[in-house]
Amino acid sequence: MSSADPATTASSGRPRRFAPAGPLKGRIRVPGDKSISHRSIMLGALAVGETRVTGLLEGEDVLSTAAAMRAMGASITREADGTWSIHGVGVGGLLQPQQALDMGNSGTSTRLLMGLVASHAITASFIGDASLSKRPMGRVIEPLSLMGADFTASPGARGSQTLPLMMRGAAPAVPIAYRLPVASAQVKSAILLAGLNTPGITTVIEPVPTRDHSERMLKGFGAELEVEVEPDGTRVIRVRGEAEFRPQQIVVPGDPSSAAFFVVAGLLVPGSDLVIENVGLNPTRAALFDVLRQMGGQIDELDRREVGGEPVADLHVRHSALTGIAVDPAVVPSMVDEFPVLFVAAALARGRTVTTGLEELRVKESDRISAMRAALELAGATVTETADGLIIDGTGGDPLPGTPEGAAVTTHLDHRIAMSMAVAGLASRAGVEVDDIRPIATSFPVFESLLDGLADT
Ligand code: S3P
Repeated sequence: MSSADPATTASSGRPRRFAPAGPLKGRIRVPGDKSISHRSIMLGALAVGETRVTGLLEGEDVLSTAAAMRAMGASITREADGTWSIHGVGVGGLLQPQQALDMGNSGTSTRLLMGLVASHAITASFIGDASLSKRPMGRVIEPLSLMGADFTASPGARGSQTLPLMMRGAAPAVPIAYRLPVASAQVKSAILLAGLNTPGITTVIEPVPTRDHSERMLKGFGAELEVEVEPDGTRVIRVRGEAEFRPQQIVVPGDPSSAAFFVVAGLLVPGSDLVIENVGLNPTRAALFDVLRQMGGQIDELDRREVGGEPVADLHVRHSALTGIAVDPAVVPSMVDEFPVLFVAAALARGRTVTTGLEELRVKESDRISAMRAALELAGATVTETADGLIIDGTGGDPLPGTPEGAAVTTHLDHRIAMSMAVAGLASRAGVEVDDIRPIATSFPVFESLLDGLADT
């Protein structure tokens, strides 16, 4: 979603009613992983020579990253068969962008690119849409400032640590050893990316493991990176600066966070029997599927294999009677984006589901705890909001009533609220009206066509 687009407020959104569906049957393939797609473009843009990427997610967030990397000197093109070709500038070779970098709705683009800019002698302004302009950037400003970058809030910012922000990178930057105060792959990645063009060893200490795509891909591109796991599980990640990158051939696996919506829809809609092909199952991403199995969900992995250095399988999902559980807060980082749709599953389970340790959900594209509490309540679910989670008393398999005539759930420019409530609509009596489905295009532009194709068969 472009922040230059004046039509980014919920009031001028594109509404849609998601009606109850018959059994979901057939085979589908979800688009490429968003995290890996962002990193493919960024790292390809740092390698001299041609990096080729297939399966790239062509969602608005990734396109924001591509536009920014072009503005800083990379050549990035899409070929007719959908392969992306990237000619990079070399580590340390980013150029001064001539215009503000428009990050749209994308926190990942913003935080990771701030990391890249931090160790270059360039100045960049970052702007974003109404949702992104509320999100906390202090978590990257702090470590990147320690490395020598300088940040200035722009006029119009809500605070000193929110977009629009201008930053001046440092060359040479100073290597740091930084213990992450929040479990965030974005913060970890920002520091590692800054470390690539920083002389010496940059160290990130990660007490709670988060998605490790940056570590895997940095090694693939030729960075000297090592990960040491301490007895208590803390990960110490070291990258040697002034790295030299080799261009890569990357195959992006399907996004488990996108597959999640169809997995839950298949579990909830009676009679469903569905295969979702090519789903990435990196253990730092796949906890939702384990939690749903603990609730009684029938999810089988077929043809487990490796795609692009990541574990992948086809997921066979059948309608299942779910039972509520207390979700172990230790799994939160491995399914941090999947809670909105887990809440929908819980709303139809038998008994109570309790989630805790979800403070980070309050600073995603929306406050997902309060947005999902309000949305599910409007659709007729029984939900209690706590400081760090939701407690949901499920229907025991009965459909939710659905949203009342004339009322719509508010998505707050958050794609995952829109798609989660679309799934709730499939499993409702009267359907669920969503106020604005445009944000879905940030991560899953073919969501509606896949859903409509399945519901029609
Ligand atoms: C992402 C990390 C997560 C996740 C986001 C993508 C990434 O954010 O919510 O959708 O690609 O590194 P945090 O690291 O802030 O939890």
